[in-house]
Amino acid sequence: MMNRESTRPAQKSSEKAVQRCIEPKCAASYGIRERIYVCPRCNGPLEIECRLEAPEDAATLSKTWEARLASPDARDRSGVWRYRELLPFEEGVSSVTLAEGNTPVYDAPRSAQYCGLLALRLKHQGCNPTGSFKDTGMTTAVTQAVLLGAHTVACASTGNTAASLAAYAARANLQCVILVPRGQITAAKLAQSMDYGAVICEIEGNFDDCMRLMQELGDDPAIYVANSINPFRIEGQKTVAFELMQQCRWRVPDQIVVPGGNMGNSSALGKGFGELLGLGLIERLPKISIVQAEGAAPLARLFAGLDSARGVASLPDSIVPVENPQTLATAIKIGSPVSWKKALREVLKSGGQILTVSEQEIADAKAMIGRDGIGCEPASATTVAGIRKLVMAGHIGPEESVVAVLTGHVLKDPDYVSQYHRGTLSLGFVASGATTTAQPIAGAFRNAPKQVAVMKSAILECLQRKK
Ligand code: F0G
Repeated sequence: MMNRESTRPAQKSSEKAVQRCIEPKCAASYGIRERIYVCPRCNGPLEIECRLEAPEDAATLSKTWEARLASPDARDRSGVWRYRELLPFEEGVSSVTLAEGNTPVYDAPRSAQYCGLLALRLKHQGCNPTGSFKDTGMTTAVTQAVLLGAHTVACASTGNTAASLAAYAARANLQCVILVPRGQITAAKLAQSMDYGAVICEIEGNFDDCMRLMQELGDDPAIYVANSINPFRIEGQKTVAFELMQQCRWRVPDQIVVPGGNMGNSSALGKGFGELLGLGLIERLPKISIVQAEGAAPLARLFAGLDSARGVASLPDSIVPVENPQTLATAIKIGSPVSWKKALREVLKSGGQILTVSEQEIADAKAMIGRDGIGCEPASATTVAGIRKLVMAGHIGPEESVVAVLTGHVLKDPDYVSQYHRGTLSLGFVASGATTTAQPIAGAFRNAPKQVAVMKSAILECLQRKK
């Protein structure tokens, strides 16, 4: 798949960046305008290796980025292109942007207490233009698609990648085709893709089937794949580390926790922090931990069986997929993550953990984040649920500085929220053969609407009861 012979010479010495195979035994490099997604030599994952045009600028980078916060230039208004010195594009590139990034970091005192921490900060990537962190990667992937002269961009998706790609493709006037598992993505996400004019192919299967199909389609020269297997996606997404550090006044948090699905986000976060460390802009890495839903946790299973003391040297060659992944957090209902190797490498390098949380834990954590006045979609809430478990297990100390990355907006899945608060949420799945089993989720922090008479006294009584 997507393993076509490379037609161009490898790196030109004048180029700012190269694409490099991450397999240490191979480490082949390719030019930045090669249209490849995996290493043509060994099929390994590719990543972009960028060097500063003027290396002496490293020390002044943070000052340059700080000054851009007050600049009206469209590139500076983007929380991705603001960090363009570390992106694999030439200075004058015409970027496809929706002013992505610029997402807030919130204090979340109730969630902190719930986790057993003194403080907890939430970096809300759901505040991006299409409501998820995917926008930070699509601005660079679609910019690259335009530079390559592509006419059609494509992705497999559990909903957010699709909505984001559809929007950026519309901005660039490109055709967009998305493959989604029929009946398994939320109405809100699907509605976004319809609005942005994408060709929507609903596939009878799950996300992993869509992803396999996408890898076959990637062989077609007319189609440019924008899933996170594409290293240009990761380049945009890595800037979350730069923006977060700027917001933290360059004081590195002890722990950063992210949800894990196809594993692009965790890979990108680790890459971003690694680059800051390499440039001397930070003095240590935060521990990066990944949280998966119990029913869709291939990487957590792999991690549990690893000798993590051996670190990056013990990276396995393959992962055992989860055949029939199950979770109500549909964004991360993925059994065979494409970027598992990069993500695992980042976790091992940083000394973090990979763990699972139950459906009940996700639902309650989501409601608790809500009590802080901050909405998010279910997949994002795995972070707070996971942090609570990591504190209980002693992997995170109560006084450590912890940042959870929220990945999607609460309005991405309003049905889930409503069902939780009304007490009707349940996970239905085909257990064996054709028997469907329902696993009810109790709304421990339920807050259902009440039917109240048209009378002032009835409303006051209602308030009284709530106290
Ligand atoms: N959170 C949300 C809201 C997501 O949409 C996703 C992935 C993840 C977390 C996991 O991130 O895949 O980088 O590990 N959504 C993809 C999609 C798969 O198609 O929208 P990851």
